[in-house]
Amino acid sequence: MKSRQAKIIGTGSYLPEKVLTNSDLEKIVDTSDEWITTRTGMKERRIAQADEFASHMGTKAALRALESAKISASEIDFILVASLTPDYVFPSTACLIQSALGAKKAASADVQAACTGYLYLLSMAKAFIESGQYKNILVIAAEKLSVITNYKDRSTCVLFGDGAAACVISAEGKGLAIENIQLGADGDLAELIVMPAGGSRKPASAETVANCEHFIKMAGNEVFKQAVRRMEAACKDCLEGARLTENDISWLIPHQANSRIIDAIAKRFEHLPSERIFKTVQKYGNTSASSIGIALDELLRTHPLKSGEKILLTAFGAGLTWGAGILGG
Ligand code: UT7
Repeated sequence: MKSRQAKIIGTGSYLPEKVLTNSDLEKIVDTSDEWITTRTGMKERRIAQADEFASHMGTKAALRALESAKISASEIDFILVASLTPDYVFPSTACLIQSALGAKKAASADVQAACTGYLYLLSMAKAFIESGQYKNILVIAAEKLSVITNYKDRSTCVLFGDGAAACVISAEGKGLAIENIQLGADGDLAELIVMPAGGSRKPASAETVANCEHFIKMAGNEVFKQAVRRMEAACKDCLEGARLTENDISWLIPHQANSRIIDAIAKRFEHLPSERIFKTVQKYGNTSASSIGIALDELLRTHPLKSGEKILLTAFGAGLTWGAGILGG
């Protein structure tokens, strides 16, 4: 028996008010509500205001997580932020949120693992807590994907939305134990989802802007196959690593990239009824790193877990990166 067990003691999320519907998209690109609904399951996504950035959304989600954990920002030792769309390349969004929260004693850093970011951060926070290095860690995912979405490219612009999620992880207090996390990556397939310019490889120039290289580029079909394969395998490895079977799982929260991807993974869970596979994809689209964090917060607020119930999280994204994690009630 481990002496310290990392637990999620509070969660929060934030979605901007502005809704972008499929019929709004029909007016922007050559698409249809019918195509988007049948191919992705999406109906709506949220879009941040022009002056609302990843740090603002992350701060709002963090305040809700602190409130639900009933601890103050001054008690946080470390702030970890996952984002594809940080306010700046530097300083980190974590530092901006640290300042906004007044979390004076918190060390702060961003971590980049694309849509798998939330799971990567849960894993890091678990290690920091269980090693005894830190007592309270704030994990945040915050995305303003609308600024890196090309609204002239119908194959990607229908997919993405903005939003943030957060949780407080601690060794003390009541909460959801982070029982096991399994992570993976394959950099050989880095080109499958990429924002080509804006980094040191291709700094911003008039040419990169003219070529629309500051937007998400994705090989949709290949990514779809990889997403199903990697998340299925991650779930299996994670269950085996925890010596559990699917019968021990009460809820599955997959990355909300596409309803068809979620359904393909769900098929592998013969005993888990479809109403136990939590979906937000229809109303928020794909919010990258924030996706499973937003779904987790909504699940816990709408369906409080009974003692002994377990949640299986799984995510996949650019890198490629993937993972799965088990949370115990
Ligand atoms: O979060 C990171 C992980 N991301 C993902 O996991 C996303 C994975 N990929 C997907 O979800 C799907 O591949 C997409 C939703 C991106 C695309 O769906 P698809 O069923 O793979 O469609 P497709 O790319 O094979 O395109 C089929 C047809 C094409 O037309 P033709 O060539 O058959 O005439 C596309 O041009 O659908 C067309 N199309 C559209 N039509 C109407 C593509 N986008 C649209 C659109 N509206 N928005």
